[in-house]
Amino acid sequence: MRSIQAIVAIDENGAIGRQGGLLCHLPADMRHFKEVTMGHSIVMGRKTFESFPRRPLPGRQNIVITRNAGWQYPGVKVAHSLEDAVAAAQTDVVFIIGGAQIYEQSLPLVDVLHLTRIHARWASADVFFPALNMDEWQEVSREHHTSDHRNAYEFDFITLKRRAR
Ligand SMILES: NC(=O)c1ccc[n+]([C@@H]2O[C@H](COP(=O)([O-])OP(=O)(O)OC[C@H]3O[C@@H](n4cnc5c(N)ncnc54)[C@H](OP(=O)(O)O)[C@@H]3O)[C@@H](O)[C@H]2O)c1
Repeated sequence: MRSIQAIVAIDENGAIGRQGGLLCHLPADMRHFKEVTMGHSIVMGRKTFESFPRRPLPGRQNIVITRNAGWQYPGVKVAHSLEDAVAAAQTDVVFIIGGAQIYEQSLPLVDVLHLTRIHARWASADVFFPALNMDEWQEVSREHHTSDHRNAYEFDFITLKRRAR
């Protein structure tokens, strides 16, 4: 059966980005993102796709959602709605990888949420993850990481599963 999962890095205020990019560079989280999503379909908004310095992301089916009928990019499957994007996915596990608009629309479909909670706050943040109703989610794992010379902030890898509806 198909599982729709989301993966996101989020600060203490629920922020996910600023000025079209991520909040910070956290190599350990980049590695985690790669490990979790590798081999699967990834669904993203056009703005998130265009924020990647190197694109499409290798080893994964990249599906980009846009309202622009003429938009295309080599190696990318284009979709014009979230429903079309999910239908186009070729893997049993489909990852929603952002940004804010796409998380907001897809959250009701998501059954597993991979959260990286960064223990910091950015006043300059301008995009946010939708508010979570924790009655709907069960925490199934949490892994704490301290900061180090490459990762300037403490963070937790948290997995939430949606409770039976
Ligand atoms: N912290 C994290 O884990 C994380 C992850 C991903 C992204 N981000 C950050 O999030 C920010 C980008 O998020 P965003 O909300 O501005 O943009 P986004 O969700 O990445 O993309 C928005 C675009 O998606 C298309 N779109 C949205 N809904 C659609 C629909 N129903 N049907 C067809 N197309 C649709 C539109 O593209 P067109 O304009 O082409 O029509 C829209 O402009 C960046 O700062 C990025 O770095 C953070």
